[in-house]
Amino acid sequence: MAPSILLSMLLCLSAGSMLMVQGGDPTIFFEWNVTYGTVAPLGIPVKGILINGQFPGPNINSTTNNNIMVNVFNYLDEPFLLTWNGVQHRKNSWQDGVLGTMCPIPPGKNYTYHFQVKDQIGSYMYYPVTVMHKAAGGFGGLRVNSRPLIPVPYDEPADDYTIIAGDWFNKGYTTLKRILDSGRNLGRADGVHINGKVARGDGKDEPLFTMEAGKTYRYRICNVGIKTSLNVRFQGHTMKLVEMEGSHTVQNDYDSLDVHVGQCYTVLVTANQEPRDYYVVASTRFTRREFTAMGIIRYKNGRAGPSYDIPRPPVGWAWSLNQFRTFRWNLTASAARPNPQGSYKYGGINITRTIKLANTAEMVDGKLRYAINGASYVEPTTPLKLAEYYNVADKVFKYDDIADEPPAQISKVALEPIVLNVTHKDFVEIIFENHETAIQSWHMSGHSFFAVAVETGRWSPEKRMNYNLLDAVSRHTVQVFPNSWAAVLVAFDNSGMWNIRSEIWDRHYLGQQLYVSILSPNRSLRDEYNLPEDVMVCGVVEGMPRPPPYNS
Ligand SMILES: *[C@@H]1O[C@H](CO)[C@@H](O)[C@H](O)[C@H]1NC(C)=O
Ligand SMILES: *[C@@H]1O[C@H](CO)[C@@H](O)[C@H](O)[C@H]1NC(C)=O
Ligand SMILES: *[C@@H]1O[C@H](CO)[C@@H](O)[C@H](O)[C@H]1NC(C)=O
Ligand SMILES: *[C@@H]1O[C@H](CO)[C@@H](O)[C@H](O)[C@H]1NC(C)=O
Ligand SMILES: *[C@@H]1O[C@H](CO)[C@@H](O)[C@H](O)[C@H]1NC(C)=O
Ligand SMILES: *[C@@H]1O[C@H](CO)[C@@H](O)[C@H](O)[C@H]1NC(C)=O
Ligand SMILES: *[C@@H]1O[C@H](CO)[C@@H](O)[C@H](O)[C@H]1NC(C)=O
Repeated sequence: MAPSILLSMLLCLSAGSMLMVQGGDPTIFFEWNVTYGTVAPLGIPVKGILINGQFPGPNINSTTNNNIMVNVFNYLDEPFLLTWNGVQHRKNSWQDGVLGTMCPIPPGKNYTYHFQVKDQIGSYMYYPVTVMHKAAGGFGGLRVNSRPLIPVPYDEPADDYTIIAGDWFNKGYTTLKRILDSGRNLGRADGVHINGKVARGDGKDEPLFTMEAGKTYRYRICNVGIKTSLNVRFQGHTMKLVEMEGSHTVQNDYDSLDVHVGQCYTVLVTANQEPRDYYVVASTRFTRREFTAMGIIRYKNGRAGPSYDIPRPPVGWAWSLNQFRTFRWNLTASAARPNPQGSYKYGGINITRTIKLANTAEMVDGKLRYAINGASYVEPTTPLKLAEYYNVADKVFKYDDIADEPPAQISKVALEPIVLNVTHKDFVEIIFENHETAIQSWHMSGHSFFAVAVETGRWSPEKRMNYNLLDAVSRHTVQVFPNSWAAVLVAFDNSGMWNIRSEIWDRHYLGQQLYVSILSPNRSLRDEYNLPEDVMVCGVVEGMPRPPPYNS
């Protein structure tokens, strides 16, 4: 059922090309070559992963409802897959780019992702999910602009900049994988990079970005790191927070922001200082040893280099918790709403199920594993979604093998795929319980959730009294501080197989993730798209006849 493709326009943009399909939403097309290449963010060369020769990879610049096609050629010698962190893929978990829904792209092969940024705005990122590739690169920014005529709650900025920052290990990703495979702890990172670089401060640094005095700029700041929270700040300037993970926020000014792994924040910075160079600074948080990376922000016609008076990061995580509490959704800003059914009045919806997920670190046969409610996720060779669609789920995984409550005591950690069976349109409360002393960061794909509370201590039903049921930010990733919990509310209205994962990548790699399966009750195309024709198949479904498609 190909749409009548009348090409009314064919534009070539620097990053990709845009096809305007008459009567439909425009499609933007990218061709990406994924290769190895040497990178040296901290000055020490390591085997990195490049996209079209770039590290970080190209930015995707899109507009709400654009169809995005990315033809990814895998020139690595290992299977490779990218995920689009925070893109909701409505009805379309087929293209989420995680190993529970897709087969990885084999070496020497290509696959074309095809997804729509339906009803979304905001700052996102993409990154690899295969082995520890994320520690080598292959990541970049993805922005979704508001459509023309949709009011944005601030004046159009003079320019739009993306900061992809993260911790970095000089060991290289294969060594990191070997460490984890042998059951050891990853240890600490060697430093931090900002857009794959660190300013040396020797007067020869190239600026990351340029501002003109008097103008205001949009910065999209994402933490693409492996395990470390970052504090980000601009020397001499404040940041006006305007959006996070798809929601316009109440516009508070901040001297610095804690950005936890997997999170993205959009801020406005006004060039209202003496024209010279300034540093944008990212420092590690909650680590025994603090690392800081800097990048130059240059004023056009500036007259001096940066001052070496670098603003200090805050101390302790109570500061970070207080900052979380200042984040509010701007209820009056018009924007694409994350939950089209009107569930943004979420305080009045009855909770139909409560799921408590507790993270633990375990030793299994002498090897480190990370677990959720006593089980540690193991990737099956057949993607869960394909197994379910081909009606052979029982050959690959069991539904609801973990309970909605963490066990009082874990006797034996189950190593298995973890899939929760969630009823379509259930309104679910999820409590992330962290009884460990390390900070956690939890992400959900396919949906945004309302992050209604993050508190210290133990959760109990009375804590619901303290939930923000009015203007909690609807987002996709929430941090959980040591010996604390976070509560989120989510309308599971997007049929598919969706990943809930630790964004702390060693934990993710060693089992701290799971999936929720949300079936279309009557196999309806209104709820979920059919398996796309060109989707790769692998595992037990390879060679099996395709199941009959959904018809209506
Ligand atoms: C990708 O690599 C192919 C083969 O080397 C080349 O023809 C093509 O131009 C490359 N594409 C991009 C976008 O760099
Ligand atoms: C991104 O897209 C918007 C909307 O189409 C456009 O105005 C802007 O110039 C683009 N930015 C870049 C850097 O290509
Ligand atoms: C692989 O790339 C070729 C050339 O661009 C394209 O025609 C084909 O559709 C791609 N294959 C997949 C599975 O995306
Ligand atoms: C929220 O958005 C509205 C509408 O665009 C805007 O006028 C208002 O200033 C914003 N409120 C806050 C507190 O940021
Ligand atoms: C929520 O549940 C209460 C008590 O069970 C019931 O009275 C109320 O009608 C429900 N509200 C909605 C919106 O379903
Ligand atoms: C999943 O839950 C639905 C009810 O929401 C139930 O009908 C179905 O049998 C369950 N499936 C499995 C495999 O447990
Ligand atoms: C599909 O299921 C939904 C919810 O169970 C129901 O409201 C709807 O009427 C069903 N549609 C058809 C065509 O059976």
